[in-house]
Amino acid sequence: MQIHIEPISKSRIDQVDFDQLAFGRSFADHMLVAEYANGAWQSVKIQPYGPLEYQPAMMSLHYGQSIFEGMKGYRGKDGSIQVFRPEENWKRFNKSAYRMCMPEVPEEIFLGGLRELLKLDQAWVPAKEGCSLYIRPFMFATDEYVGVTPSTTYKFIIFNCPVGSYYSKPLRVRVETEYIRAAKGGVGFAKNAGNYGGSLFATQNANKDGYDQIIWTDAATHQYVEEAGTMNLMFVINGALVTAATGDTILDGVTRKSVMQIAQDWGMEVQERQLAVKELIEGIQNGSVTEAFGAGTAAVIAPIATIGFEGKDYDLPERKDSDFSVRVYNEINQIRLGEISDTRNWVWKV
Ligand code: COI
Repeated sequence: MQIHIEPISKSRIDQVDFDQLAFGRSFADHMLVAEYANGAWQSVKIQPYGPLEYQPAMMSLHYGQSIFEGMKGYRGKDGSIQVFRPEENWKRFNKSAYRMCMPEVPEEIFLGGLRELLKLDQAWVPAKEGCSLYIRPFMFATDEYVGVTPSTTYKFIIFNCPVGSYYSKPLRVRVETEYIRAAKGGVGFAKNAGNYGGSLFATQNANKDGYDQIIWTDAATHQYVEEAGTMNLMFVINGALVTAATGDTILDGVTRKSVMQIAQDWGMEVQERQLAVKELIEGIQNGSVTEAFGAGTAAVIAPIATIGFEGKDYDLPERKDSDFSVRVYNEINQIRLGEISDTRNWVWKV
């Protein structure tokens, strides 16, 4: 499909302080915009990043037919630009689209469009250690209609943000036993906007009590660990890597599956299973739980320092360089930067 390119007349890159990058506050010069109507993708354009005009009755604003992805681009030591496993995000995006009654986005638009966009905005990929270009593809319903039904028109957009870390320090997280994120038969596995909107209230309550994030528990019993608001959760228990199995309520995270693959390659036992909150808390107390961390695109590997449960805080052991979470972060980082050989074929070169 032909991509029409309308370049910016003057870059805004000088306005960004690449030494002080926050997460998701600065936006690269261009964005990709594709339009779906009459049962087909009609046009794909790369144009200056900027406001778009919509009708107040645009359906996605009312009924949440809106999905997204998150990927990261890196500048290798040789200056080349590469993205970590974007094919996985493309596949997951289309699974979310199917669940939300939205059209699939073909590879040539998602990945082909991304390649053209990144070629134009290469200068925006940070070179600084710990920084990257966060890539946000998303799609939303654009029909002007107030009935509750799938839209017939959609927009697919990709924009990019140069970013620093999502979390800047080891996290204090609280086990949530009142509100839920996802339930069996629901949309928890899809990356639809409503999952995140629905998480805000409980997360805000936890923030007020001094916690950074929530550990969601299963909707039926609140006894089992699910995931955190922005990432999958992983634990090292008796030397094995433990994480919730994917299903209706768990996002099939690309970082999650990469961490599991590396653990297996290193000969570590990987257990995808239910983890009872009781087992977790007892394990912290008796020393069998040695590490807890979140894994996600934005967060990468986010160590957890403290878990709050029923009004008490339980501290994880101090982090050491020999910890699995430290070593796996270094491995992923070195693969992304091209510092070690990409034996698993995870790096996608622009
Ligand atoms: C990501 O890790 O890319 C996510 O989607 C989390 C996001 C909500 C910040």
